[in-house]
Amino acid sequence: MNVGIDAISVATAHYRLPLPALAEATGVDPNKYTIGLGQQHFSVPAPDEDTVTMAADAVAQLIGRTGTDEVRSIFFATESSVDQSKAAGVFLHGLLGLPEHVRTVEFKEACYGGTAALQCALALVARNPEERVIVVASDVARYAIDSPGEPTQGAGAVAMMVSASPRIMAIEQKTGVYTKDVNDFWRPNDSSTPFVLGHLSMDAYLDAFTGAWDDFAARNPGVKSTDFARFVHHQPFQKMARKAHRQLMSYTGDGRGDEIIEAGLHYSAQVGNCYTAALYWGIVSLLTHDSGLAGERIGLFSYGSGAVSEFFVGRPAARYAEHVDGAAIDATLASREKIDFSTYRALHEERHVDSRDYATPHVTGAPYRFAGVKDHARRYERNKRVA
Ligand code: CAA
Repeated sequence: MNVGIDAISVATAHYRLPLPALAEATGVDPNKYTIGLGQQHFSVPAPDEDTVTMAADAVAQLIGRTGTDEVRSIFFATESSVDQSKAAGVFLHGLLGLPEHVRTVEFKEACYGGTAALQCALALVARNPEERVIVVASDVARYAIDSPGEPTQGAGAVAMMVSASPRIMAIEQKTGVYTKDVNDFWRPNDSSTPFVLGHLSMDAYLDAFTGAWDDFAARNPGVKSTDFARFVHHQPFQKMARKAHRQLMSYTGDGRGDEIIEAGLHYSAQVGNCYTAALYWGIVSLLTHDSGLAGERIGLFSYGSGAVSEFFVGRPAARYAEHVDGAAIDATLASREKIDFSTYRALHEERHVDSRDYATPHVTGAPYRFAGVKDHARRYERNKRVA
């Protein structure tokens, strides 16, 4: 059976900070960020945006194209959840007025959560092919100021409709998985920013890649990396995906260079790390920048610190290019408001992390907004300023 991604859409935050502005203000050579990490900008949420509002934007676009008939599940993956108990998808469900007869649940394992949600969705649809599942991955990657992770921040969401008649990309059944308990990146309940051992996290990522690849190869005797026309890897920053690619090429003796990952790297350099959504921004980037992939096998690598990884395979459908709109994504990215360093730092510091009552200012131009907290509950609403 051909189960996979039938529609895909993206959303990001209201503001963008150019990396050179961060570098210059903090006394760092801008080339470290733009060349060393490969990043150009990162998205910064307005005070009335969060993972739920970005997800709502992406899912509204998605169901505008596909409707909600036979949608029986909504899986929301995030590292930057807004509540310790209630699933972010339930806020989304209310905000968008989605059908009542759905199961709504949140997935968490750092950046890997989006892939866990996708695999569960694929399995559900394989069991009940008449059903569809909405998978949405949404995150605000927010690191401590002046930490090495600060230039790798970002914000964005990707929504996918999973069905048994995928017009964008079928996902093959066999995958390679890997788990190892590593303290490379974690966020205790009393911290709004993660604790990160940056260089350990890069090593853990690369080890998890070969671990997942080995499992994939053991389950697919005779498979070669040259069976794959392109690869898309989890992208906390562009350079990390290049390092992963080099590692796989040297591990498997494949002589190909970065030309087979390049098309998948455009958006992450513009939005920054989107944790659970980062790999999926990469997939959208590949499909909007390379229209000749129908029927090819695409190797996909997902990594979540802590650490869990998966190598799996997508096969773009015959007319996938008609169902992804690169021009609209470019317009969304270009419409972000550019901010300077001091505005960005003020936004970073003002972010509320408690549940006392407050109201947010009207800033976002997105269709849904976070209005603030009342009686310890987060309040979301349609943005009346958007037609
Ligand atoms: N011009 C050009 N390049 C320069 C430069 C300059 N002036 N100065 C430095 N560079 C290069 C360095 O050589 C290096 O490149 P290579 O690795 O290819 O040698 C690159 O810029 C970065 O330099 P450093 O390693 O010195 O940077 P750092 O130690 O300050 O920070 C980091 C790097 C540890 C990744 C940090 O950004 C970080 O902690 N990020 C968050 C954690 C992360 O993203 N880890 C990735 C794996 S974990 C994961 O993927 C899960 C997730 O999403 C978080």
